[in-house]
Amino acid sequence: MSMRKKKFTVTVDDHEFVARPGEILLDAAVAAGVELPHDCRIGHCGTCTVEVTNGITVGGETGQCDRVRACQAYVFSNLEIAVEETPKPSQIAGRITEIQEVAEGVVEVTIAPNRRFEFLPGQYCGLQFRGFPKRNFSPTACMSSASFGYNLKFHIKRVRSGQVTPFLGSRIRTGHPVRIEGPFGVAYHRNGRANRLVLAGSGTGFAPIWAIVSAALSESPGREIVLVCGTREYRSFYMAKALEFAAKHKRVSVIPTLEQLPRVSKLLAEGTPAHHLPDLTEDDMVYAAGSPKMVSHVAEMARVAGADFYADPFEASTSSEGSLQRVGRWIEQVKAAATSLLPNVA
Ligand code: FES
Repeated sequence: MSMRKKKFTVTVDDHEFVARPGEILLDAAVAAGVELPHDCRIGHCGTCTVEVTNGITVGGETGQCDRVRACQAYVFSNLEIAVEETPKPSQIAGRITEIQEVAEGVVEVTIAPNRRFEFLPGQYCGLQFRGFPKRNFSPTACMSSASFGYNLKFHIKRVRSGQVTPFLGSRIRTGHPVRIEGPFGVAYHRNGRANRLVLAGSGTGFAPIWAIVSAALSESPGREIVLVCGTREYRSFYMAKALEFAAKHKRVSVIPTLEQLPRVSKLLAEGTPAHHLPDLTEDDMVYAAGSPKMVSHVAEMARVAGADFYADPFEASTSSEGSLQRVGRWIEQVKAAATSLLPNVA
C-alpha cells in the first residue's frame, strides 16, 4: 500500500481546507471557497502573499522570511498560514472632479467615487476612464495637509505615446466617468509598528510613498521617518509642497533628490533616492516606488541589511501597454537591474 499522503490540511485563521500534494495553494483555497486576496494569479502583483507559519511550500518565494505568493506556491505538507487583512477588491463607479497640472508632464487627478473606496495607504487600483483602457495608479493624500478625503487623488505622469494619459485634460475631462477597481498590492502602511520607516519614491512613484507617510504621520507622529524622493528633471519635481509639510515634523528627515544636472538648489541631492538612503538596519521597514532600477537598488540594500522591504510591481503610468504587459516588463527590468548592482550602491 502506498504511504504517499493523498491530501494535506491547510489552516488559515479559523478555516481549514484540503490541498492535494503539489497543488497550488491559491487554487486549493479558491476550490474550497476560502477567500484569499488575489489579483493577477501569475506571480506578479503580490496581492496573494501569505505567511507560512507552519509547514512546507515550494515556489512563490518573496525574498522575505516565510512569506510566499500563494498563486505560485505548491503545497507539500499540512500548512498553517496567516493572511494580513486588507480591504476586499471591488468595482466602483466615479467621476473626475478635477485635473490639475502640478508640474510639467504631471497631473493630479481627483475622482469622486459613487461610494467610499476602501484601501490601505500605499495600495493601488485600476482606473478605467470610459472609452479608454484600464491603467493602475495609487490613490494618495493631499500634498499640503497629508490628509485623505472621500474623493481620491492620483498623481499621473503624461506619457507622450500613451493611450490614456496624454488625453487627461482634453478628451478626458472633469465629469468624465471612471470605473475604479481594487484595491490591490502589498506595499501598504501597516498600523501599530514603531520601527523606523525608510521610504524611497521617484517620479509619480511618490504617490504611494506619500500615502504611507501621511498615514504614518497621523497614526504615530513620533515615529522616525526618512523620506527620500525626487525626479529625474527639475521641471517635473512636483512634490515640494508635500516634502515641506513632512519636514515640519520633528522625527521626519526629508531628502529631495534630482537626477539630472544642473542642480538648481543645494537643497536637492544629486542622484536617485537609492543613492541617498540612510544606512539601513534589520529593524527598518523600507518601501520603494518608482523606476524599476531605483526600486531594485533599494530592494537589494534592504536585503543586505535584513530589513523588511515592500514594493508593488508597477511603475505608474509610464507606458502605453496593458497592465499585465507592464507588470511583466517591470519584473524583467528589476531582474536585469538587480544583476548589474554594484556591491555598494549607497
Ligand atoms: S495573485 Fe499572486 S502574485 Fe498576483
